[in-house]
Amino acid sequence: MAEPEIAPSKGLERTLSREHYLSPELFAREKERIFLREWFHVGREEDVATPGSYLVVEVAGESVLVVRTREGTLRAYYNVCRHRGCQLVLTGSDSAGCAPELAGSFASGIKCPYHAWTYTLEGALRTAPYLDENAGIRKDELSLHPVGIDTWGGFFFLNLVPREAEARGHTLRAQLGEAATRLANYPLADLRRVKRITYEVAANWKVMLENYNECYHCAGVHPELCKVVPAFRKNGGASLDWDEGIPHRDGAVTFTLSGQTARAPFPGLDQNELVKHKGELIYPNFMISLSMDHVAAFTVFPRDAGHSTIVCDFLFHPSEIEKPGFDPMDAVEFWDITNRQDWTIVEGVQRGMNSRRFAHGYYAPMESASLDIRKYIAERLGEMGSEPFSARCGVGQSDHGTENGSDPISGDRT
Ligand SMILES: [Fe+2]
Repeated sequence: MAEPEIAPSKGLERTLSREHYLSPELFAREKERIFLREWFHVGREEDVATPGSYLVVEVAGESVLVVRTREGTLRAYYNVCRHRGCQLVLTGSDSAGCAPELAGSFASGIKCPYHAWTYTLEGALRTAPYLDENAGIRKDELSLHPVGIDTWGGFFFLNLVPREAEARGHTLRAQLGEAATRLANYPLADLRRVKRITYEVAANWKVMLENYNECYHCAGVHPELCKVVPAFRKNGGASLDWDEGIPHRDGAVTFTLSGQTARAPFPGLDQNELVKHKGELIYPNFMISLSMDHVAAFTVFPRDAGHSTIVCDFLFHPSEIEKPGFDPMDAVEFWDITNRQDWTIVEGVQRGMNSRRFAHGYYAPMESASLDIRKYIAERLGEMGSEPFSARCGVGQSDHGTENGSDPISGDRT
């Protein structure tokens, strides 16, 4: 028998319902409404640095070919030949995975391995063996299917429905919003990756974003982090101003176990940024944490409702990388400790939400930024107020008569 609906305690806001974290149907809907339509962060421009270089990445189950043209422009295409649909770059039985894994360089054009239809790096069909335009073939109708690509700070983002995005004015700049302004002093485009760690995490992608969005958990989960930033222990991080930057303890300036570093700060930072830490969550899948000497960039590749791949790139300034004795591992080790603590706890959240006793959770006031996730999902999945998701998606039955949709949606990052 269903338990009676109770009003949330004062100051608590409901999270998304259980089904949002467990349902394959809702995940499929997120794929269509979010991962396909939004600008999805994938990698660094340096991954395709030279003319003719390419890499293959998987976004929302689609294999995408990213190419640097002879003129130096980045282009992206569905990794599908217009002839018979063969992959232009074969990714093997398990596709390309999520992170950029297949990389190489085209000597001339993009040649399909099946019948050797060959495309220019701009995606136009150049040659189709034994077929020519005199025989009626219309090459201009057989270009590769484009994927939108745009960059910010050396990061590149893909949009799988570029014409639709353009029609609705949905640019990468629009999606980045004020985050780009807040990070304007960091020389992001100049930075280079010196280390990448890829984690497989048995948790829904939103659990990972929600975890990034609050530091209520830091006191209990991250002892090393709290030694560097004691402010995380105060009031669950409620009084922290992320836009201004997070203060370290006295004498600490960066995210290493000692809080210190031999590396010079990035050029161009203001007095505040020289001693504080900043972080931004850029929906739907990009998180960027910035110290004065290094950046940890997290890219989430949602795999299914209960599994995400997360790629952590460590970026440093070239002037430091080229110094004799440069060693990034103090930062890498610090982040790896912190990351693993996070993945352990979010996997615990995912397992806990599988319980039939869990219908939805609550956001405490110091987790208010996570309300943005509820709003973000509601705006994109739609139709959330009229019918319980459990009824529509057939993923168990909630003990609560209403789901999240009837709640007022409020809250902001600030
Ligand atoms: Fe954490």
